[in-house]
Amino acid sequence: MKKETEKHARPAYHFTPQAHWMNDPNGLVCHEGVYHLFYQYHPYSTEWGPMHWGHATSTDLLHWQEHEVALEPDDLGMIFSGSAVFDAHNTSGLSPAGQAPLVAVFTHSLPDSAEPGRALQQQSLAYSVDAGLTWQKYAGNPVISNPGLKDFRDPKVFWHAASSRWVMSLACGDHIAFYASTDLKSWRWLSNFGHSAGAHGGVWECPDLVALSLNGRERWVLLVSLNPGGPQGGSATQYFVGDFDGVTFTPEHTDTRWVDWGADNYAGVTWSNTPGRCLFIAWMSNWQYAHQVPAAPGRGVMTLPRDLQLQDVGGQTYLCSPVAAEVAQAFHPLSYGEQGENNHPELSAWLKAAQSGFRLNILADARSSWFVQLQNEDGQQWRLSFDPEKALYEVDRSQSQSKCVTPEFAVAHRAPRLSYSETCEVAVYVDAISMETIADQGLTSITSLVFPDSPWTAVFVQGNLTMSFSGL
Ligand code: FRU
Repeated sequence: MKKETEKHARPAYHFTPQAHWMNDPNGLVCHEGVYHLFYQYHPYSTEWGPMHWGHATSTDLLHWQEHEVALEPDDLGMIFSGSAVFDAHNTSGLSPAGQAPLVAVFTHSLPDSAEPGRALQQQSLAYSVDAGLTWQKYAGNPVISNPGLKDFRDPKVFWHAASSRWVMSLACGDHIAFYASTDLKSWRWLSNFGHSAGAHGGVWECPDLVALSLNGRERWVLLVSLNPGGPQGGSATQYFVGDFDGVTFTPEHTDTRWVDWGADNYAGVTWSNTPGRCLFIAWMSNWQYAHQVPAAPGRGVMTLPRDLQLQDVGGQTYLCSPVAAEVAQAFHPLSYGEQGENNHPELSAWLKAAQSGFRLNILADARSSWFVQLQNEDGQQWRLSFDPEKALYEVDRSQSQSKCVTPEFAVAHRAPRLSYSETCEVAVYVDAISMETIADQGLTSITSLVFPDSPWTAVFVQGNLTMSFSGL
């Protein structure tokens, strides 16, 4: 019998550490053409533990190189989630004369067992003057002390050009607090948002406030991760579209909206220093079962990078998360006999050779029902279907693995179709243990982990649709 760790192929084009535990993406910054991806990392175990910042880089968002651990726990605590910025004018003064540092802003977090009276979560800085390779912690940490809150974490900082200062979003349990600073070291509280807005089934984490323009008009979108309380149970990320005047965030809708309707898209935030685009990545898991999923062999994988955009549908503005253009364009169409034919032998051979790393594109009539089902030689299957009456997509992974991770894992997930177009346009990115279903230019996104025992080798379809496959 194969060992658990050998059973599942390692993702081919998603970032996953060589070994050990990973959760949230942290410190996302683009610098000198390099995308830095730091992440919550426990370098000694496949279980969550004293958090470090692991580090990986990429120049094309597709191939990632893992580096030495960037930040380790110290007397102030573990290194929880946070962000990084390029301090182009050395406003922080953290760098010796003339150099512009990268500055990381993160939460120092002590365990609940720390001596009574000690603040558990506070915000701190670290900086790098060698383009992100090595990091020094700021001697004056923490830069924001805890005002008496149990949950006070995950600082996300950006340069707010209109008020010429840095703005930070910080998760405070059931709301987001905004702070401002001109030097990244001393921070002033600006406002709170969210006590009575959005979903509150769990604790608010990992905020990110981003500017996106639609039809020439700038809008602000606040991302807030929530655990538990997501639409599929457990963790998920909600968003608010609205306005930010430099002090206060005001949403323009009262309904709850989700970045992704799958169960495995959490703690997602955006890269800083990517002018003209808003590039997002998330942890592809759910706290509901993150410790029960097989390690493959590292335990933790990121989503594909997504290009966040806004789209108007029926007078409402929604967030779309299509896969980043350069990643989407890296896939080359496969040509084999009759595309769309059920269980074509040439396709089976190709799928097997693709080691489960491929993309499936579907164009389907949105006025009738349809489904596409992938199957492997172990009889496991994954199915995407569409119900035109209810305008619902459904991703069913209930029979995608032999051993269910937990009962909550082996279920189907439903997601609303927001687009009114007559054709469902869907891309499914398949990569060993993940299926990212991106429908209607990212208006509906459903991200799911799956753990089939062998690669998908057959495709069955029903309905009025055409399919095409592409690989890397
Ligand atoms: C979100 C989170 C963050 C925290 C980190 C700890 O998944 O709980 O709020 O900083 O993970 O690893």
